[in-house]
Amino acid sequence: MPEEQDVELEARLADQERFVPSESFVSQANVSDDSVYETFEEEWPECWEQAADLLDWNEEYDTVLDDSNPPFYEWFTGGELNASANCLDRHLDERGDEAAIEWVGEPTDEENRTYTYEELHREVNEFAAALKEMGVGEDDVVTMYMPMIPELPIAMLACARIGAPHSVVFAGFSADALATRMNSADSEYLVTCDGYYRRGDALEHKAKADEGLGGVEHEVSDVVVVDRLGDDYDHPMGENHRDYDDLVADHAGAEVEPVSRDAEDMLFLMYTSGTTGQPKGVKHTTGGYLAWTAWTSQAVLDIKPEDTYFCSADIGWITGHSYIVYGPLSLGTTTMMYEGTPDHPEQDRLWEIIEEYEADQLYTAPTAIRAFMKWGSEYPDKHDLSSLRLLGTVGEPINPRAWKWYYKHIGGEDCPIIDTWWQTETGGMMVTTLPGVKDMKPGSAGPPLPGVDVQVVDTDGEQVEPGRAGHLTVQKPWPGMLRTLYQNDERYVEEYWAEYSDTDSDDPDDWVYFPEDGAKIDEDGYITVLGRVDDVLNVSGHRLGTMEIESAIVGVEGVAEAAVVGGNHDVKGEAVYAYVITEDGYEEGDEMRDRIVEGVEDAIGPIARPEAVVFTPELPKTRSGKIMRRLLEDVANGEELGNTSTLRNPEIVSEIASKVGDD
Ligand code: WT7
Repeated sequence: MPEEQDVELEARLADQERFVPSESFVSQANVSDDSVYETFEEEWPECWEQAADLLDWNEEYDTVLDDSNPPFYEWFTGGELNASANCLDRHLDERGDEAAIEWVGEPTDEENRTYTYEELHREVNEFAAALKEMGVGEDDVVTMYMPMIPELPIAMLACARIGAPHSVVFAGFSADALATRMNSADSEYLVTCDGYYRRGDALEHKAKADEGLGGVEHEVSDVVVVDRLGDDYDHPMGENHRDYDDLVADHAGAEVEPVSRDAEDMLFLMYTSGTTGQPKGVKHTTGGYLAWTAWTSQAVLDIKPEDTYFCSADIGWITGHSYIVYGPLSLGTTTMMYEGTPDHPEQDRLWEIIEEYEADQLYTAPTAIRAFMKWGSEYPDKHDLSSLRLLGTVGEPINPRAWKWYYKHIGGEDCPIIDTWWQTETGGMMVTTLPGVKDMKPGSAGPPLPGVDVQVVDTDGEQVEPGRAGHLTVQKPWPGMLRTLYQNDERYVEEYWAEYSDTDSDDPDDWVYFPEDGAKIDEDGYITVLGRVDDVLNVSGHRLGTMEIESAIVGVEGVAEAAVVGGNHDVKGEAVYAYVITEDGYEEGDEMRDRIVEGVEDAIGPIARPEAVVFTPELPKTRSGKIMRRLLEDVANGEELGNTSTLRNPEIVSEIASKVGDD
């Protein structure tokens, strides 16, 4: 950002700690009455009927919450519904000709695609018919390995229509990651594509999918391939591979009755990183999840059917599932999809899209905002962004300076910002201001949503004093919560509940959910999330397990041992630092470094690529043999080294530090 502007912004906004939503926003907000907090508390859990009421049910539920077997909570039990019917069919009468999806491809000379609700409904039905014909039945897990192309939400909704849970694997993940997830879910069907465009290049995705299929241990029945690249890539087709366009054409005009799913039936699986090497298969169900995403989309994103809403996330992550696909479509609004990156062909691509489509909301990540800041305000300044009414962020803490830049240069000091804390596991937003009700405090996500019971506690589970750091906990269940880890109830209890619950009790009051984040709370009950307290990194808003990366590195020939920690990074938030010990006879150096980077990309994907690989003869270890990660983090951040007296090998720390300095 040019210097004078920077100075001016600093001067005017720097000291401001509280921002009041504008009168013009409040007067039109979906929720603008403060009393909702009190009513929801008094009427909990029945308050969540309000969320369920946003949906169409085939069969009314009899119980809002069944908490007889904690932590295996059930919501809206006895109810039946279909997610695809809620996202499509019920909007046809009034919004059939309105856009459901506005898709923008990365190449600027390509025509964008609009799917009206009518058109989306038609194609979802046709593809659902094709899936059925392939033999996909209720509860068969269908894997999708696709980038941001319209066929991804179409395939998701087609699965939802026939009651087949989907498991979407982020397209940037590696072939190995695809295989691991298909194996874990026993998934016999894959929907993928030939490739996609990224910063002007045609990426050949199909080869990666094929490689992944090679690692699947069971028989894969069918592979559907979308032809995204046309003549740019003549992709090979295997024997059980089918062309998406042919399938849809073969089922032109088909109609598939949406199956009535039990509220607690699985809608989808989403794998996420944890502390062990094995990713966790988070299970979300139909009723609670859809009610949660619909309610939060309405109350927090302030979505109205006539809006054009833009979330810049990828559908391969939970943000895209909840807030590009299910939440917005269940409300009948227009949701945008952009295939490419914000800096292609120029660093104003998002602003150009927002101007052209007159987007009402923008929901993005702090890492993107930090990049926008770095590129400079001249890029948004070139465009008319006055259509925007609300801004949002998600994925990691946002520092006040980035918040204020977003507020001024994108929101024109007129749009409330929602800083939303949640996780793959929570299904949707948990802690954030209601934009039409609460003041904003940059750097703090805000109070928990109405009906959400979040507390910051110490290691004994007691609430901490305002201003003190503690652990973020959720004290009561909520409809959007994960139900378990796929086929692993034990790990579910272990990972999320064991820390603060009396696991022998069947009293729900004895059960507390621990998301593994640190936080503090202020006198007004506003929560500042400090970050993960487990061995999980947050790189550009993406969760990466250090163990996963370490095991990838140890798998590289010539590596004896590795330790991975997060170092500060001005755009990514955290970056991967790998400390590596080589085996005797292997040379440290560029060749080894390249093979390590490649090993990580092959096992996980380019998002996990180490920022630095530091060779060392030893790792700093305590006398009991534990790696002192804190010290490795200090080294990565070039910080003063903490106490090394408990180490078996204290001299190694300064030796490593001098190597990082050279890097
Ligand atoms: C982790 C969850 C939520 C969808 C995208 C990421 C961090 C998320 C915030 C926020 C501070 C945040 C937490 C959380 N996180 N939102 N507003 N402020 N930290 O989903 O991959 O499941 O990661 O992201 O550490 O535990 P995820």
